[in-house]
Amino acid sequence: MNIITKLAVAASLATALTSVSIAQENLQGLVVGFSQIGSESGWRAAETSVTKQQAEALGIDLKFADAQQKQENQIKAIRGFIAQGVDAILVAPVVATGWDDVLAEAKEAEIPVLLLDRGVDAPDDLYLTAVMSDQILEGRVAGEWLVGEVGDADCKVVELQGTVGSTPAINRKAGFEEAIAGHDNIQIVRSQTGDFTRAKGKEVMEGFIKAENGGADICAVYAHNDDMAVGAIQAIKDAGLKPGTDIKVVSIDAVPDIFAAMAAGEANATVELTPDMAGPAFAALSAYLADGTEPEKLIITESKLYTPADDPQGEYDRRKDLGY
Ligand code: AHR
Repeated sequence: MNIITKLAVAASLATALTSVSIAQENLQGLVVGFSQIGSESGWRAAETSVTKQQAEALGIDLKFADAQQKQENQIKAIRGFIAQGVDAILVAPVVATGWDDVLAEAKEAEIPVLLLDRGVDAPDDLYLTAVMSDQILEGRVAGEWLVGEVGDADCKVVELQGTVGSTPAINRKAGFEEAIAGHDNIQIVRSQTGDFTRAKGKEVMEGFIKAENGGADICAVYAHNDDMAVGAIQAIKDAGLKPGTDIKVVSIDAVPDIFAAMAAGEANATVELTPDMAGPAFAALSAYLADGTEPEKLIITESKLYTPADDPQGEYDRRKDLGY
């Protein structure tokens, strides 16, 4: 079963895990390696901060490695962690494929690996668990919002995809397409990667605007994360159009900046992705180390829709100092 199918199956079992109470004395003093993708987005920065805070609170010695978006750097870091003999490894895998060998090496060394926020296309006995959202559901929630928003009106959508080959890019696309299927008035007319960054989101959106009659033909932009949406908002403004009104903006993450845009009337909807992947991961690791309890292979976090009706200024204030 590949990761896309697994996510679909797991959706019915989804558990909201935005916060997990942690009382795991057995993690005190452990050495845990963390191979992080990089710092492409505000959400990623928050995940890094939360993971470091959680580790510190638990007395874990966290060895942090920033892969700067490169899988080869992640593989090198994981091999380094194995050579050091760490007690466990956290990995946020930049893309889905190409992990079998290094995961098998960790397994051979009896080091549990826990995946954070993205999945891998590898046999699931090679890792202990994956803590992540149901990314198909995220895309579906965004698509269903748009379906409800436009009703029967014609709507040409441009899509800013995440990193090519990453599970959120694959699954958020699939979920959105599923939601708009059968609504022939809504069509994705252009789709390109913006690599989950603000700068590329802006650059690609500028191209979409040029290609679509100065933006006049675009009804909505669907961005696989908020950072690309924020970049797109700037491109829309630069083109003399009003984001949120002339072109609707729907995205995923729920970072403070998208709530600031929403409060200013420039964004319309976002789907929340908690940056607290480490909490559930450390809880699963603790139980596993205590008595061999095998966690679910997928620990699914909540995917909640936010719109301007949800007090965007309040949401901005609540999140702005959380490490985003
Ligand atoms: O894997 C999670 C995604 O990666 C987040 O939505 C995005 O912002 C990040 O870069």
